[in-house]
Amino acid sequence: MTHFLDIHTTDPADLRAMLDRGRAMKTARAGRPKGASDDDQPLAGHMVALIFEKPSTRTRVSFDLGVRQMGGQTMVLSGADMQLGHGETIADTARVLSRYVDLIMIRTFEETTLLEMAEHASVPVINGLTNRTHPCQIMADVMTYEEHRGPIAGKKVVWCGDGNNVCASFLHAAGQFGFDMTFTGPPTLDPEAEFVAGARAKGVTVEIERDPAVAVQGADLVVADTWVSMHDSQTTKERRHNQLRPYQVDRALMEKAKPDALFMHCLPAHRGEEVTSEVMDGPHSVIFDEAENRLHAQKAVMRWCLGV
Ligand code: CP
Ligand code: NVA
Repeated sequence: MTHFLDIHTTDPADLRAMLDRGRAMKTARAGRPKGASDDDQPLAGHMVALIFEKPSTRTRVSFDLGVRQMGGQTMVLSGADMQLGHGETIADTARVLSRYVDLIMIRTFEETTLLEMAEHASVPVINGLTNRTHPCQIMADVMTYEEHRGPIAGKKVVWCGDGNNVCASFLHAAGQFGFDMTFTGPPTLDPEAEFVAGARAKGVTVEIERDPAVAVQGADLVVADTWVSMHDSQTTKERRHNQLRPYQVDRALMEKAKPDALFMHCLPAHRGEEVTSEVMDGPHSVIFDEAENRLHAQKAVMRWCLGV
């Protein structure tokens, strides 16, 4: 079964092939209305379940649209409305859904839910974000970087703020695509040591630098994300804001990066918190290209999973 669970567990040649295909598919339909079908219909006859146990705008819309453009059909399911949210096991849910659909995308809390779904499903499962990782986002981000600046291999990516799920998938991508990463944030919010070590083991440099002004020097790409993720307790919000305020990406910080550095944020953003509007809407920012590329990258991921 060809699941797309994480970037570090997917063959680098497959990752590269997916990005190439995503880009080719994007080019092939450039300028056409969003709802227009792709010329080939690789997902014709396929039914895709999109399960959300957390809120979503981009993941929900980009997966649904991508399936439709490729000629397939979708069922968008809220975890809370399924028996999954009322005591049915993940394993049984996976077995049942596998009788109805050809592909499952799930956004959930615990990574174990995703892994259990994949273990018991007889159709491919895609990780649409867990508390621990967000691989589809980083596929779009690598695609976006390379669209603007060419190969990401050997570049320096600086992550500012919380070493969260999106940061984790960036570290996974560093190892697989061969770019270096610097994390800058408070020690209590460091990325998981296992992910840092995993990237280093693949031969890339991962640095932890507490001073954001030092961290961004020589950066090709500066990345921020929300200070409070969906799985974080709201009771920690004030403490997190106090800890993370020094890591806000503003114009002064961006000016310390390379002159042609890009700025990324997976969105949704909290303007004036992790990043200023000046940077979000400024010349370095490619945030809406990233959002668009979720669509194109994930279409390629789905085709890879289904072998079509
Ligand atoms: N970036 C991202 O995954 O956005 P959504 O939460 O809106 O899906
Ligand atoms: N780190 C954020 C990403 C949202 C797309 C979260 O998990 O809430």
